[in-house]
Amino acid sequence: MSTPTRTGTSVSMTVNGEQVDRHVDPRRTLSDFLRRDCGATGVHLGCEHGVCGACTVLLDGRTARSCCTLAVQAQGADITTVEGMADGAELHPLQEAFWKHHGLQCGFCTPGILLTVQELLADNPDPSDEEIREGISGNICRCTGYQFIVDAVRDAAAVLRGEKATEAE
Ligand code: FES
Ligand code: FES
Repeated sequence: MSTPTRTGTSVSMTVNGEQVDRHVDPRRTLSDFLRRDCGATGVHLGCEHGVCGACTVLLDGRTARSCCTLAVQAQGADITTVEGMADGAELHPLQEAFWKHHGLQCGFCTPGILLTVQELLADNPDPSDEEIREGISGNICRCTGYQFIVDAVRDAAAVLRGEKATEAE
């Protein structure tokens, strides 16, 4: 249980594998907490009211709109942002596939889409194109037209199933 103090409320969580303990204003959103207190600026803010999906993070392995979640609601949680996807210099297969298939242009939507797709593939390792489109339907992209994203997800899914290698074409 978090403890109110004169300077705020104490929160503790794991962010990309690192333990984080802070005092925060109880009204502080998880997105502001991650961006400003944890330096996770890959958490993007678009609409700030739960519509665009740009701020999506994984909270205990499930997607959450961090703009509509308070930091104190994530007390004790395990949070993953896009910064936690790569293994050092080695991109996650999803990141590799997005690069290879031009699944991004400006990249503003990309962190939220990558984490959304990570959840999708954990639930369904071999989704159809229709299932991929349904899975990312809560994430708005104004640049790509979505087809290259679908191509990238299909390719990454095959890599993650061990059916093909990750090399770029
Ligand atoms: S910024 Fe959170 S859903 Fe748009
Ligand atoms: S790549 Fe620009 S919004 Fe999706």
